[in-house]
Amino acid sequence: MLLNKTLIGLATGIMCSLTFVANAAPIEIKFSHVVAENTPKGQMALKFKDLVDEKLPGKVTVKVFPNSQLFGDNKVLEAMQLGDVQMAAPSLSKFKKYTKKLQIFDLPFLFTDIDSVERFQKSAVGIRLLRSMERKGLIGLGYLHNGMKQLSASAPLKVPNDAKGKKFRIMSSDVLAAQFMAVDAMPVKKPFSEVFTLLQTKAIDGQENTWSNIYSKKFFEVQDYITESNHGVLDYMVVTSKSFWDSLPSDVRAEVQSALDEAIAYGNGIAAKKAEQDKQQIIDSKRSSIITISTEQRQLWVTAMKPVWKRFERKIGKEYIDAAISANQVN
Ligand code: LMR
Repeated sequence: MLLNKTLIGLATGIMCSLTFVANAAPIEIKFSHVVAENTPKGQMALKFKDLVDEKLPGKVTVKVFPNSQLFGDNKVLEAMQLGDVQMAAPSLSKFKKYTKKLQIFDLPFLFTDIDSVERFQKSAVGIRLLRSMERKGLIGLGYLHNGMKQLSASAPLKVPNDAKGKKFRIMSSDVLAAQFMAVDAMPVKKPFSEVFTLLQTKAIDGQENTWSNIYSKKFFEVQDYITESNHGVLDYMVVTSKSFWDSLPSDVRAEVQSALDEAIAYGNGIAAKKAEQDKQQIIDSKRSSIITISTEQRQLWVTAMKPVWKRFERKIGKEYIDAAISANQVN
């Protein structure tokens, strides 16, 4: 009799907790970003949503907000700390308030190409950088590629002197400011959502960005020239807040991370192709002339901009810069 009562009690308890689990509202991940959906980041975010739906049905849902719909790049990290958004993937140039170390990615002409960037991100040093903002409450969950940056302007830019006195929109990075000042240009820090209008109204003369951003945001329609400079990298870190991450049950956290890893691999897989396609679309549009610079002309840009490395060496850490230089060598 006593045994029966105990069993009934146990069964009722289990039923109650199962009902609770079944009725519990799914955990919501708001994923906010600033670019269009037809970009490596836009595609990665949508893939992540699909994978989470597949791996964690009813337990976790992802809502993607592209095109600065929810937060612009100046606000998203503060919003994340307040719990108003759970994930974002700002460009590596936008973390200055949280760590100086990520400024390494902004050093002009540091990485030869995106493969070097990949080797650096995968190295022990690159992995350590994912945790460089933990004390500020942010955790890096992975890197995502966009690609190498090009220079666009309303006048042709072939040598550094062509940039003299011109206003360039930059992301909120002091290294990028120093890079443009090194060629006597005027850097203007502005959010991504304002760039098109600034270019269209000629409030600024130019900007630097990747082929996919120049194409998807139509900058090529309001810039007569694009110099294929490949002078720097524009990549992302997918971040979340430590408090949100720690609040997830460990099995859910592992599944979310695995969905994200898969989505990042997918995004990275299309980034290079997208850069080529979008460059071609710009060429075909005939709205903007693409300038190819000679090795000698490129060297002039390198000579003018490279002293910026030394100025930021102490803040970034020499060992990080050395590791990036060695990532340029294929083993
Ligand atoms: C920019 O502000 O130019 C880029 O960071 C936008 C982006 O997220 O690719």
